[in-house]
Amino acid sequence: MSQTSFELLINSFIEDKVGIADGFLSKTLAANLKSNLQELYSSNQLTAAGTGNLQVDHNTKFRGDSIHWLGRENENVHENSFFDLMDEFVAYLNETCYTGINGYEFHYTLYPVGSFYKRHLDQFRSNDSRKYSMIMYLNDDWQPDDGGELCIHHKENQQNIAPENGKSVFFKSSELEHEVLVTNKPRMSITGWLKT
Ligand code: OGA
Ligand code: NI
Repeated sequence: MSQTSFELLINSFIEDKVGIADGFLSKTLAANLKSNLQELYSSNQLTAAGTGNLQVDHNTKFRGDSIHWLGRENENVHENSFFDLMDEFVAYLNETCYTGINGYEFHYTLYPVGSFYKRHLDQFRSNDSRKYSMIMYLNDDWQPDDGGELCIHHKENQQNIAPENGKSVFFKSSELEHEVLVTNKPRMSITGWLKT
């Protein structure tokens, strides 16, 4: 079953440089990960994103999201289901596209109302281990008025993608500049990178 959404994501990536697959996360998994994220928020376990050796010095003028890293060591059943899915996806990607991915990292992400992430690239200046960016959204019933689109800056045009529940977006980390537009509703996701 997941193989269909893997193909959808990879084929649209090959055609358009941005892979998009609706329903990449099942409704159940998306709901469970979303309650994890809400629980982390309620118990003050999210931290402001954007310290570290990124390309640009980050502050709340640049990005306003808060994050928490996922890990198998957390021994959370839903995180483990998520990692099982990612392991399957990476195996499929490596088999079909010879990508040689041998690592990854993912964090929960919450953008509060009024926050955004200015135009940027996902690769570190001093480290090119991040090969592919992958984002999965956890927002039920997202409306056009809610804002918060992911805006991809292609050479010739821009592409706006609404952060709809279960949808996955996949692109090369070194290649495409992108931004998160101001959100009018709390905006939740899992964000990560496939690495070599
Ligand atoms: C990022 C990012 C996009 C999104 O975290 O680097 O660009 O849609 N996220 O959340
Ligand atoms: Ni980014």
